Amino acid sequence: MKLQKTVWALAAVAAILAGGCASDNSGGEREMNEFVTGLMERMTLEEKLGQLNLPSGGDMTTGAVMNAEITEMIKNGEIGGFFNVKGAQKIKELQRTAVEETRLGIPLLVGADVIHGYETVFPIPLALSCSWNPEAVERMARISAVEASANGINWTFSPMVDICRDPRWGRIAEGSGEDPFLGSVMAAAYVRGYQGKEMKQSNEIMACVKHFALYGAAEGGRDYNTVDMSRQQMYNGYFGPYKAAVDAGVGSVMSSFNVVDGIPATANRWLMTDVLRDQWGFDGLLVTDYNSIGEMLPHGVAGLREASAMALDAGTDMDMVSGGFYGTLKESLEKGDVDKSDIDRACRRVLEAKYRLGLFSDPYKGCDVDLAKQVTYCDEHRKTARETAAETFVLLRNEGDLLPLKPNKTIALIGPMADAGNNMCGMWSMTCTPDNHKSLLTAMNEATEGAGRVIYAKGSNVYGDERTETAANGIRPIARGDNERLLNEALAAAAKADVIVAALGESAEMSGESASRTDLEIPDVQKTLLRRLKATGKPVVLLLFTGRPLVLTWENGNVDAILNVWYGGSEAADAICDVVFGKVAPSGKLTTTFPRSVGQIPLYYNHLNTGRPDGDPTQFNRYNSNYIDESNEPLYPFGYGLSYTTFSYGEMTLDKTAINAGGSLTASVKVSNTGNCDGYETVQMYIHDVLASQSRPVKELKGFRRVFLKQGESAEVKFEINADMLKFYNYKLEYVCEPGEFEVSVGPDSRNLQTLKFTLE
Ligand code: NOJ
Repeated sequence: MKLQKTVWALAAVAAILAGGCASDNSGGEREMNEFVTGLMERMTLEEKLGQLNLPSGGDMTTGAVMNAEITEMIKNGEIGGFFNVKGAQKIKELQRTAVEETRLGIPLLVGADVIHGYETVFPIPLALSCSWNPEAVERMARISAVEASANGINWTFSPMVDICRDPRWGRIAEGSGEDPFLGSVMAAAYVRGYQGKEMKQSNEIMACVKHFALYGAAEGGRDYNTVDMSRQQMYNGYFGPYKAAVDAGVGSVMSSFNVVDGIPATANRWLMTDVLRDQWGFDGLLVTDYNSIGEMLPHGVAGLREASAMALDAGTDMDMVSGGFYGTLKESLEKGDVDKSDIDRACRRVLEAKYRLGLFSDPYKGCDVDLAKQVTYCDEHRKTARETAAETFVLLRNEGDLLPLKPNKTIALIGPMADAGNNMCGMWSMTCTPDNHKSLLTAMNEATEGAGRVIYAKGSNVYGDERTETAANGIRPIARGDNERLLNEALAAAAKADVIVAALGESAEMSGESASRTDLEIPDVQKTLLRRLKATGKPVVLLLFTGRPLVLTWENGNVDAILNVWYGGSEAADAICDVVFGKVAPSGKLTTTFPRSVGQIPLYYNHLNTGRPDGDPTQFNRYNSNYIDESNEPLYPFGYGLSYTTFSYGEMTLDKTAINAGGSLTASVKVSNTGNCDGYETVQMYIHDVLASQSRPVKELKGFRRVFLKQGESAEVKFEINADMLKFYNYKLEYVCEPGEFEVSVGPDSRNLQTLKFTLE
């Protein structure tokens, strides 16, 4: 008999986000206010300005280097915290200096970019989102906090929640993709994981949601570039995940580098005060990005003194790196260009963050050399990282069920990513030690030991041209070889094998900050290699390493199997073998659209319809919204991903066809595992507002459920739909739902859906 179970889907953002770490702490808040007020009464203006200053310590750099003499600055009361310093002992000593050698003994914020792990590195955030598993994201953040706090860090500059619809932008790798609903769910999960219950315990650290706001919408996908968009788009398409982090109790927010309405975000009062503080009720710490105040000069808005005054006035509390707050606000106060109350406000917010972290009762918090040794990169964390990585891989194609491979074959493992252990950790992993990480070659040799054989050849450089490769590989170089010789070695290896596994794509540093690309194909020499491998006639598995959606149109038509493994972190190599040899069935689904060509970008599933939507995509329809030379369709749509098993969907039913503002209805669908192994399926639910006071997206994700089904098992998946889920920000920026007809769709991805209608009365 087939098993059947009922699964209730997480449908409303509100439901998913409930249980965030904001707590009713009014007693605690009162005590905090009294404490901070008392402290501030004893502080000089200089000491207050010192609290607003956040220099980089320089063990790890993320911009033009502006390292400071941290110890001296601490002694002089010139800083409220620092970032980019690694090591429990070192940080403890700096904290001791602040507590024991300054007049007031105020402890320091210690920040770091712990983005997808500290020493135990998890997959890049874009990959993590493809798990569609907020619990996995929360677990990742918790483990990161445990390792980071033991090593002296009490503040992470994560999560990055910028919605991105343009894969040319390298920082797409750092977020949760293109969808604001999924992005909101993930944003809250990160915050819960880092901050724990209240942020106060020794292994809880403060999260920082970034980059507020709209950083992912840089024109042309070029990093740091201009952003310009309507308010409706901001509120409906981009703001959701920042707000979800605020609702989940995030302790801090980082402003973005870009302009919003022509004003650099850091100095944009509407954004920082009207929206963030007044509309969303954020009462935490607002920090700038790296030298954002200094960058207001090249933005053409203001030099350091004026920019600092503008940023303070806009609502910014803490200045990362520029030194403008500490260096110029006194003069601005004397000249009457800033209010003392704003300096007090900013200082109060820094001190409150420290109070909420518990630093005034224990300045060293979890920082402990012995504990750090015990928990950092420990077996238990690595095991979780390995399991998580396997959940994030997306099987894009699997002709003739080529995957999983039997380990008793002769495998030609070819490609520049095959023996690049130092690249497995991905881009934002500066706190880790890449030399510790196993290469795919080593992992594959271990996985096939005693059964099959692995013949390795590098096959190609990352790029044929050395200059481009040096730029691409950044701080994680891969030794280069002669292009022609590498290719010939690969063909010789392939000739001896039953199956070719090609480990190709981007090197780790080709995505992330300052890693924009115009060409989204697999780079030149690697593509030539792949074509030549295909021409051998042997079956080819492409293991795709990438930090962004790539254009895989040729690969999709020619390569037998494509497993997108993103950048899977320190344990990626073992996790890849787990999936390639079938210990784990792939279950990841895309959270960004994969285009057929760069010319289609921006391409995203939740677009508006035009007045002239395209008709039959197999033919050119002049005067419709389309291209002469390419279809409007993506290669792989949002939500897409295969498994080693198959799932079939029964007919969707609705228990009602009309609801009113207070009511709800239930959409149900039976999902069955019809293939040959157990596996996870992520069932997705989308809604479309057919006619509204303004054009609405053709569909919007409003719920999803990841279900585990044994072979032959079925589940009844249910989504509850209520009027709140039909709301949007209208032309007047009121959050409303409008009566009328709606479509609800369910299915395995955003293109493959069944649809029914209902009415909101
Ligand atoms: C600049 C990046 O934009 C930001 O994400 C990061 O947190 C800071 N540098 C600090 O490293």
